[in-house]
Amino acid sequence: MDLIVNGETHTVRVEPQWTLQYVLSEKLGLTGTKEFCGEGACGACTVIMDGRPVLSCMMLAVECGGRPIETVEGIARSNHPLIDAYIKHSCMQCGFCTPGFVVTAKALLDRNPDPTVDDIKEAMVGNLCRCGTYPAHIKAIQEAAAVLRGGGSRG
Ligand code: FES
Ligand code: FES
Repeated sequence: MDLIVNGETHTVRVEPQWTLQYVLSEKLGLTGTKEFCGEGACGACTVIMDGRPVLSCMMLAVECGGRPIETVEGIARSNHPLIDAYIKHSCMQCGFCTPGFVVTAKALLDRNPDPTVDDIKEAMVGNLCRCGTYPAHIKAIQEAAAVLRGGGSRG
């Protein structure tokens, strides 16, 4: 089957029980898409598919053929301002949750270029961080939004 990931088509052989997270991480080497809970509760495995954030641990890879998928690697490669903002505001401690947060935040900014604090909290409600980095994410997302609107700096 063909998986379209970060604009590239990958022809892969998948077993019917394999999740999208497993195929991305173990077969395509896109290890930024983490599995933590494996049951749809933490958001660590979030990718964007068809323009919406989805939990890749809850999707069978066989359901995802031909559908555009964006992972944290694609977001980083595009030099998205979220990356610099996440570093600047120290949004990670252990970092395990961070790719999922970045992907969810990118999906938010794609549909809402000027999110309020409440908009951000609502969008990120499914992303859990055991290290308690939540306040930093809000600052980083608002700063990245300002950069995308042309009103902020990357410094
Ligand atoms: S690993 Fe998918 S939601 Fe936790
Ligand atoms: S930075 Fe450790 S779980 Fe979020």
